Amino acid sequence: MDLQTAEWLVSADAGRALALAAAQPDPESLAAATRLRAAHPPERAAAALDQVVLRARARRKFGDAADAYFWTAAGLEQATRPAVSTRRAARFAASGAVELVDLGCGLGLDAAAAAAAGLAVTAVERDPVTAVLAAANLARVPGARVRVLTGDAEALAPELLAGGAAVFCDPARRTAAGRSWRIEDLSPPWPFVRTLLDGSRPACVKLGPGLPLGLIPDEVEAEWLSDAGDVVEAALWAGPGTTPGRRRAVVDGAELVRDAALPAPPVGPVGAHLYEPDGAVIRAGLVPAVAEQVGGWRVHEGVAYLTASGLVPTPWAEAFEVLEVLPHQEKALRAWVRERGVGILEIKKRGVDADPAALRRRLRPAGPHAATLVLTPTASGAVALVVRRCRP
Ligand SMILES: C[S@@+](CC[C@H](N)C(=O)[O-])C[C@H]1O[C@@H](n2cnc3c(N)ncnc32)[C@H](O)[C@@H]1O
Repeated sequence: MDLQTAEWLVSADAGRALALAAAQPDPESLAAATRLRAAHPPERAAAALDQVVLRARARRKFGDAADAYFWTAAGLEQATRPAVSTRRAARFAASGAVELVDLGCGLGLDAAAAAAAGLAVTAVERDPVTAVLAAANLARVPGARVRVLTGDAEALAPELLAGGAAVFCDPARRTAAGRSWRIEDLSPPWPFVRTLLDGSRPACVKLGPGLPLGLIPDEVEAEWLSDAGDVVEAALWAGPGTTPGRRRAVVDGAELVRDAALPAPPVGPVGAHLYEPDGAVIRAGLVPAVAEQVGGWRVHEGVAYLTASGLVPTPWAEAFEVLEVLPHQEKALRAWVRERGVGILEIKKRGVDADPAALRRRLRPAGPHAATLVLTPTASGAVALVVRRCRP
């Protein structure tokens, strides 16, 4: 979409085209394009139809609120989920910040949450089309005090931060080839982003959850967040109210914190229950805290599965009842699957070299029953645990 089309799209003028696009039974069809083009120039017809398709896609992440926003495919992919942006905004507000500079705001989802939390927001975006859509999105926040500047974050930062505003940066993690997890591919670049965490102001930097731990500066707080089963980000915090070295896992809003490394839990035999810690807990190095909570131990050195004799419901790990312990041998597993009439087979694994999808095919599941196998090394060799989820 070019800049002119973006400006039209967010104007009142586009209302009719968007309504017509939304009324199409299949907005991706040629028939829909033909109908829209009968009333609007081709680039506007395409932009309106695209918007309807993207809003439908965005509803999965943002619910009905998605219909109030303007999207691009890349902007939607990078947009922070509401539960996460709202929590971040509340943290900024709690730090005492009254003004926030968002350096690389994308479509403005984090900025919108900050504005909704009462902060005055200056959002910077270098892509002019994205900036136009972000401004329209932010204008929809009731009572928002916001401005969107089109420009380079690194160039604008000194002036924008001179007054002591808090800062947020969610660097793009995309290259021409698609999504990237390499720190060298961040934009704005990491050496600049890193300077925002110097502690002189409330600051948060959002990074991918796979961030190498060695890159985390000693003086920052780091938290890993998971939402509805996905580990969505690592966030580094600095400035007033933060504790250097603190590590936190946030699982669907529930927080687990440590300020000092805990000793690794002991290794022992598989007990009556198995616990699979949430990915955010594992990355934050908090598996020992969960072991303490559930009275558990590890099944093997270097493997994040915990086991315990009792069931202690916890938000930090998924709990399973261990029903059987089978050898990790394909022939034995195939016989077990056949004897039990297992047609729906879930295979989980850690610490063993196996491709669950390929193994499932080779085990030839057939029959009316469902089962879950967990492949893991133990002190007495690799095993396949037959487990049943303990529903909370
Ligand atoms: C990951 S997105 C931000 C998403 C946003 N937090 C949200 O929830 O909607 C990063 C954005 O930074 C922008 N960007 C990358 N480098 C930039 C730079 N040097 N200056 C300004 N914006 C930049 C990209 O165009 C992209 O839109």
